[in-house]
Amino acid sequence: MTTNGKGRLAGKKAVITGGTTGLGFETARAYLAQGAQVIITGRSQERLDKAVAELGEGAVGIKADATSVQELSDLAAKTKDIFGSIDIIFANAGIGIFAPIEDMTEDGFDNQFGINVKGVFFTVQQLAPLLKDGGSIILNSSAVNAKGAPTGSVYFASKAAVRSFARSFAAELGHRGIRVNSLSPGVVRTPFQSKMDMPAEELEGFIDAVIKSAPLGREGTTADIANAAIYLGSDESAYVTGADLTVDGGWMNV
Ligand SMILES: NC(=O)c1ccc[n+]([C@@H]2O[C@H](COP(=O)([O-])OP(=O)(O)OC[C@H]3O[C@@H](n4cnc5c(N)ncnc54)[C@H](OP(=O)(O)O)[C@@H]3O)[C@@H](O)[C@H]2O)c1
Repeated sequence: MTTNGKGRLAGKKAVITGGTTGLGFETARAYLAQGAQVIITGRSQERLDKAVAELGEGAVGIKADATSVQELSDLAAKTKDIFGSIDIIFANAGIGIFAPIEDMTEDGFDNQFGINVKGVFFTVQQLAPLLKDGGSIILNSSAVNAKGAPTGSVYFASKAAVRSFARSFAAELGHRGIRVNSLSPGVVRTPFQSKMDMPAEELEGFIDAVIKSAPLGREGTTADIANAAIYLGSDESAYVTGADLTVDGGWMNV
Protein backbone atom coordinates (compact mmCIF):
# COMPACT_ATOMS: atom_id res chain seq x y z
CA MET A 1 0.00 0.00 0.00
CA THR A 2 1.16 3.52 -0.74
CA THR A 3 1.15 5.64 2.39
CA ASN A 4 3.50 8.38 1.18
CA GLY A 5 1.00 10.32 -0.89
CA LYS A 6 2.10 8.77 -4.18
CA GLY A 7 0.00 6.80 -6.61
CA ARG A 8 -2.70 7.52 -9.15
CA LEU A 9 -5.35 7.62 -6.41
CA ALA A 10 -3.25 9.23 -3.71
CA GLY A 11 -5.39 10.67 -0.93
CA LYS A 12 -8.68 9.45 -2.41
CA LYS A 13 -11.36 7.64 -0.43
CA ALA A 14 -13.44 4.97 -2.13
CA VAL A 15 -16.45 2.80 -1.32
CA ILE A 16 -16.61 -0.47 -3.25
CA THR A 17 -19.79 -2.53 -2.87
CA GLY A 18 -19.26 -6.27 -3.13
CA GLY A 19 -15.59 -6.18 -2.25
CA THR A 20 -15.23 -9.55 -0.53
CA THR A 21 -14.22 -11.49 -3.65
CA GLY A 22 -13.62 -11.19 -7.37
CA LEU A 23 -13.55 -7.87 -9.21
CA GLY A 24 -14.47 -5.72 -6.21
CA PHE A 25 -11.78 -7.31 -4.06
CA GLU A 26 -9.12 -6.97 -6.76
CA THR A 27 -10.11 -3.34 -7.35
CA ALA A 28 -9.84 -2.66 -3.61
CA ARG A 29 -6.34 -4.12 -3.67
CA ALA A 30 -5.37 -2.03 -6.71
CA TYR A 31 -6.86 1.15 -5.20
CA LEU A 32 -4.86 0.64 -1.99
CA ALA A 33 -1.70 0.12 -4.03
CA GLN A 34 -2.41 3.45 -5.77
CA GLY A 35 -2.66 5.34 -2.48
CA ALA A 36 -6.42 5.27 -1.81
CA GLN A 37 -8.27 4.29 1.35
CA VAL A 38 -11.10 1.85 0.76
CA ILE A 39 -14.34 0.71 2.35
CA ILE A 40 -15.60 -2.61 1.01
CA THR A 41 -19.05 -4.08 1.57
CA GLY A 42 -20.65 -7.50 1.46
CA ARG A 43 -23.36 -9.55 3.15
CA SER A 44 -21.19 -11.78 5.33
CA GLN A 45 -19.08 -10.47 8.23
CA GLU A 46 -16.87 -13.54 7.96
CA ARG A 47 -16.05 -12.92 4.29
CA LEU A 48 -15.54 -9.23 5.00
CA ASP A 49 -13.12 -9.95 7.87
CA LYS A 50 -11.14 -12.32 5.65
CA ALA A 51 -10.97 -9.83 2.80
CA VAL A 52 -9.97 -6.91 5.04
CA ALA A 53 -7.24 -9.01 6.68
CA GLU A 54 -5.87 -9.82 3.24
CA LEU A 55 -6.09 -6.23 2.00
CA GLY A 56 -4.30 -4.85 5.05
CA GLU A 57 -3.85 -1.26 6.16
CA GLY A 58 -6.21 1.28 4.62
CA ALA A 59 -9.11 -1.17 4.13
CA VAL A 60 -12.32 -1.20 6.17
CA GLY A 61 -15.20 -3.68 5.83
CA ILE A 62 -18.83 -2.71 6.42
CA LYS A 63 -21.62 -5.27 6.26
CA ALA A 64 -24.39 -3.96 4.01
CA ASP A 65 -26.82 -5.84 1.81
CA ALA A 66 -27.19 -3.83 -1.40
CA THR A 67 -30.85 -4.85 -1.69
CA SER A 68 -31.76 -3.07 1.55
CA VAL A 69 -32.16 0.70 1.42
CA GLN A 70 -31.95 0.78 5.24
CA GLU A 71 -28.60 -1.04 5.20
CA LEU A 72 -27.32 1.28 2.46
CA SER A 73 -28.43 4.25 4.53
CA ASP A 74 -26.53 2.79 7.52
CA LEU A 75 -23.53 2.27 5.23
CA ALA A 76 -23.64 5.94 4.28
CA ALA A 77 -23.77 7.00 7.94
CA LYS A 78 -20.81 4.76 8.85
CA THR A 79 -18.88 5.94 5.79
CA LYS A 80 -19.45 9.53 6.87
CA ASP A 81 -18.14 8.73 10.37
CA ILE A 82 -15.02 7.04 9.01
CA PHE A 83 -14.16 9.09 5.92
CA GLY A 84 -16.22 12.28 6.18
CA SER A 85 -16.49 12.66 2.44
CA ILE A 86 -15.58 10.29 -0.40
CA ASP A 87 -14.08 10.58 -3.89
CA ILE A 88 -15.12 7.34 -5.59
CA ILE A 89 -18.13 5.00 -5.50
CA PHE A 90 -17.72 1.66 -7.27
CA ALA A 91 -21.22 0.09 -7.33
CA ASN A 92 -19.98 -3.38 -8.10
CA ALA A 93 -22.06 -5.91 -6.13
CA GLY A 94 -23.91 -8.18 -8.51
CA ILE A 95 -24.97 -11.72 -9.36
CA GLY A 96 -25.86 -13.63 -12.52
CA ILE A 97 -28.25 -16.54 -12.80
CA PHE A 98 -28.62 -18.08 -16.22
CA ALA A 99 -31.70 -20.09 -17.21
CA PRO A 100 -34.02 -20.56 -20.17
CA ILE A 101 -37.14 -18.36 -20.01
CA GLU A 102 -39.32 -21.26 -18.89
CA ASP A 103 -36.99 -22.22 -16.04
CA MET A 104 -36.30 -18.79 -14.52
CA THR A 105 -37.84 -18.64 -11.05
CA GLU A 106 -39.44 -15.61 -9.43
CA ASP A 107 -36.63 -15.61 -6.86
CA GLY A 108 -33.99 -15.78 -9.58
CA PHE A 109 -35.56 -12.79 -11.31
CA ASP A 110 -36.08 -10.78 -8.12
CA ASN A 111 -32.58 -11.49 -6.80
CA GLN A 112 -30.90 -10.34 -10.00
CA PHE A 113 -32.96 -7.19 -10.33
CA GLY A 114 -32.81 -6.63 -6.56
CA ILE A 115 -29.01 -6.71 -6.36
CA ASN A 116 -27.95 -5.61 -9.84
CA VAL A 117 -30.54 -2.89 -10.48
CA LYS A 118 -32.23 -1.78 -7.25
CA GLY A 119 -28.94 -2.25 -5.39
CA VAL A 120 -26.99 -0.03 -7.78
CA PHE A 121 -29.66 2.67 -7.80
CA PHE A 122 -29.95 2.96 -4.03
CA THR A 123 -26.19 2.64 -3.51
CA VAL A 124 -25.82 5.79 -5.57
CA GLN A 125 -28.82 7.48 -3.94
CA GLN A 126 -27.45 6.91 -0.43
CA LEU A 127 -23.74 7.51 -1.07
CA ALA A 128 -23.75 10.31 -3.66
CA PRO A 129 -24.42 13.00 -1.02
CA LEU A 130 -21.03 12.09 0.52
CA LEU A 131 -19.18 12.44 -2.79
CA LYS A 132 -16.96 15.47 -3.15
CA ASP A 133 -17.74 17.68 -6.10
CA GLY A 134 -15.58 16.33 -8.93
CA GLY A 135 -15.88 12.77 -7.64
CA SER A 136 -16.34 9.62 -9.71
CA ILE A 137 -19.07 6.98 -9.74
CA ILE A 138 -18.35 3.70 -11.50
CA LEU A 139 -21.17 1.22 -12.13
CA ASN A 140 -20.22 -2.38 -12.84
CA SER A 141 -22.33 -3.35 -15.84
CA SER A 142 -21.18 -6.07 -18.28
CA ALA A 143 -20.00 -6.39 -21.85
CA VAL A 144 -23.35 -8.10 -22.52
CA ASN A 145 -25.33 -4.95 -21.68
CA ALA A 146 -26.41 -4.46 -25.31
CA LYS A 147 -26.52 -8.14 -26.25
CA GLY A 148 -28.94 -11.03 -26.16
CA ALA A 149 -28.35 -14.75 -25.76
CA PRO A 150 -30.29 -17.85 -24.73
CA THR A 151 -30.50 -18.21 -20.91
CA GLY A 152 -29.14 -14.69 -20.37
CA SER A 153 -32.37 -12.69 -20.61
CA VAL A 154 -32.71 -11.56 -16.99
CA TYR A 155 -29.01 -10.98 -16.26
CA PHE A 156 -28.41 -9.15 -19.54
CA ALA A 157 -31.47 -6.95 -18.98
CA SER A 158 -30.27 -6.08 -15.48
CA LYS A 159 -26.91 -5.00 -16.88
CA ALA A 160 -28.60 -2.96 -19.63
CA ALA A 161 -30.39 -1.11 -16.82
CA VAL A 162 -27.06 -0.43 -15.11
CA ARG A 163 -25.61 0.99 -18.32
CA SER A 164 -28.70 3.19 -18.63
CA PHE A 165 -28.28 4.45 -15.04
CA ALA A 166 -24.80 5.71 -15.94
CA ARG A 167 -26.31 7.98 -18.59
CA SER A 168 -29.04 9.50 -16.40
CA PHE A 169 -26.88 9.74 -13.28
CA ALA A 170 -24.22 11.52 -15.37
CA ALA A 171 -26.84 13.99 -16.59
CA GLU A 172 -28.15 14.59 -13.09
CA LEU A 173 -24.85 14.88 -11.19
CA GLY A 174 -22.76 16.69 -13.80
CA HIS A 175 -23.51 20.08 -12.25
CA ARG A 176 -21.42 18.97 -9.25
CA GLY A 177 -18.60 17.90 -11.54
CA ILE A 178 -19.37 14.29 -10.67
CA ARG A 179 -18.61 11.80 -13.42
CA VAL A 180 -20.63 8.61 -13.80
CA ASN A 181 -19.51 5.82 -16.09
CA SER A 182 -20.25 2.15 -16.49
CA LEU A 183 -17.45 -0.39 -16.59
CA SER A 184 -18.29 -3.45 -18.63
CA PRO A 185 -16.13 -6.52 -18.15
CA GLY A 186 -16.06 -9.45 -20.54
CA VAL A 187 -15.51 -12.92 -19.09
CA VAL A 188 -13.26 -12.97 -16.03
CA ARG A 189 -13.07 -16.06 -13.82
CA THR A 190 -14.13 -15.20 -10.27
CA PRO A 191 -16.51 -16.87 -7.77
CA PHE A 192 -19.27 -15.31 -9.96
CA GLN A 193 -19.29 -18.29 -12.35
CA SER A 194 -19.82 -20.85 -9.58
CA LYS A 195 -23.03 -19.02 -8.59
CA MET A 196 -24.44 -18.91 -12.12
CA ASP A 197 -26.38 -22.18 -11.96
CA MET A 198 -24.79 -23.21 -15.27
CA PRO A 199 -23.53 -26.76 -15.78
CA ALA A 200 -19.68 -26.81 -15.95
CA GLU A 201 -19.61 -28.11 -19.52
CA GLU A 202 -21.96 -25.37 -20.72
CA LEU A 203 -19.93 -22.73 -18.90
CA GLU A 204 -16.66 -23.88 -20.46
CA GLY A 205 -18.32 -23.95 -23.90
CA PHE A 206 -19.54 -20.40 -23.38
CA ILE A 207 -16.11 -19.16 -22.26
CA ASP A 208 -14.48 -20.95 -25.19
CA ALA A 209 -16.86 -19.27 -27.64
CA VAL A 210 -16.18 -15.85 -26.10
CA ILE A 211 -12.40 -16.34 -26.37
CA LYS A 212 -12.72 -17.42 -30.01
CA SER A 213 -14.75 -14.35 -30.96
CA ALA A 214 -12.59 -11.84 -29.06
CA PRO A 215 -9.67 -10.40 -31.08
CA LEU A 216 -7.34 -10.64 -28.08
CA GLY A 217 -8.18 -14.34 -27.78
CA ARG A 218 -8.05 -14.76 -24.03
CA GLU A 219 -10.15 -14.45 -20.89
CA GLY A 220 -9.96 -11.22 -18.93
CA THR A 221 -8.13 -11.05 -15.62
CA THR A 222 -9.26 -9.36 -12.44
CA ALA A 223 -6.27 -7.01 -12.90
CA ASP A 224 -7.60 -5.98 -16.35
CA ILE A 225 -10.80 -4.77 -14.69
CA ALA A 226 -9.08 -3.21 -11.68
CA ASN A 227 -6.81 -1.21 -14.02
CA ALA A 228 -9.86 0.18 -15.81
CA ALA A 229 -11.42 1.01 -12.44
CA ILE A 230 -8.25 2.92 -11.47
CA TYR A 231 -8.53 4.97 -14.65
CA LEU A 232 -12.23 5.75 -14.13
CA GLY A 233 -11.70 6.55 -10.45
CA SER A 234 -8.70 8.79 -11.04
CA ASP A 235 -8.43 12.33 -12.35
CA GLU A 236 -7.03 10.84 -15.58
CA SER A 237 -10.66 10.39 -16.69
CA ALA A 238 -11.68 13.92 -15.63
CA TYR A 239 -13.49 14.61 -18.95
CA VAL A 240 -15.21 11.23 -19.28
CA THR A 241 -18.82 10.84 -18.18
CA GLY A 242 -21.90 8.89 -19.28
CA ALA A 243 -19.57 6.50 -21.07
CA ASP A 244 -19.33 2.73 -21.06
CA LEU A 245 -15.80 1.35 -20.84
CA THR A 246 -15.87 -2.16 -22.27
CA VAL A 247 -12.97 -4.30 -21.04
CA ASP A 248 -13.53 -7.53 -22.91
CA GLY A 249 -10.63 -8.13 -25.30
CA GLY A 250 -12.74 -6.75 -28.14
CA TRP A 251 -15.50 -9.37 -27.77
CA MET A 252 -18.37 -6.91 -28.24
CA ASN A 253 -16.90 -4.11 -30.30
CA VAL A 254 -15.16 -5.98 -33.08
N1 LIG B 1 -16.73 -12.08 -13.52
C1 LIG B 1 -17.22 -11.75 -14.71
O1 LIG B 1 -16.95 -12.42 -15.72
C2 LIG B 1 -18.09 -10.53 -14.83
C3 LIG B 1 -18.35 -10.06 -16.13
C4 LIG B 1 -19.14 -8.93 -16.29
C5 LIG B 1 -19.65 -8.28 -15.19
N2 LIG B 1 -19.38 -8.77 -13.95
C6 LIG B 1 -19.96 -8.03 -12.81
O2 LIG B 1 -18.95 -7.74 -11.88
C7 LIG B 1 -19.51 -7.60 -10.58
C8 LIG B 1 -18.67 -8.38 -9.60
O3 LIG B 1 -18.68 -9.74 -9.98
P1 LIG B 1 -17.50 -10.75 -9.63
O4 LIG B 1 -17.15 -11.45 -10.87
O5 LIG B 1 -16.47 -10.11 -8.84
O6 LIG B 1 -18.32 -11.81 -8.74
P2 LIG B 1 -18.13 -12.32 -7.24
O7 LIG B 1 -16.71 -12.74 -7.00
O8 LIG B 1 -19.21 -13.29 -7.02
O9 LIG B 1 -18.35 -11.01 -6.35
C9 LIG B 1 -19.61 -10.49 -6.09
C10 LIG B 1 -19.50 -9.56 -4.90
O10 LIG B 1 -20.78 -8.97 -4.69
C11 LIG B 1 -21.12 -9.17 -3.32
N3 LIG B 1 -22.57 -9.22 -3.20
C12 LIG B 1 -23.44 -10.05 -3.81
N4 LIG B 1 -24.69 -9.75 -3.46
C13 LIG B 1 -24.61 -8.69 -2.62
C14 LIG B 1 -25.56 -7.92 -1.92
N5 LIG B 1 -26.88 -8.18 -2.00
N6 LIG B 1 -25.12 -6.90 -1.15
C15 LIG B 1 -23.80 -6.62 -1.05
N7 LIG B 1 -22.85 -7.32 -1.69
C16 LIG B 1 -23.27 -8.34 -2.46
C17 LIG B 1 -20.43 -10.44 -2.90
O11 LIG B 1 -20.21 -10.43 -1.53
P3 LIG B 1 -20.89 -11.45 -0.48
O12 LIG B 1 -21.30 -12.69 -1.23
O13 LIG B 1 -19.78 -11.69 0.50
O14 LIG B 1 -22.04 -10.69 0.06
C18 LIG B 1 -19.10 -10.28 -3.63
O15 LIG B 1 -18.24 -9.47 -2.88
C19 LIG B 1 -20.96 -8.07 -10.69
O16 LIG B 1 -21.81 -6.95 -10.77
C20 LIG B 1 -20.97 -8.83 -12.01
O17 LIG B 1 -22.23 -8.83 -12.63
C21 LIG B 1 -18.62 -9.87 -13.74
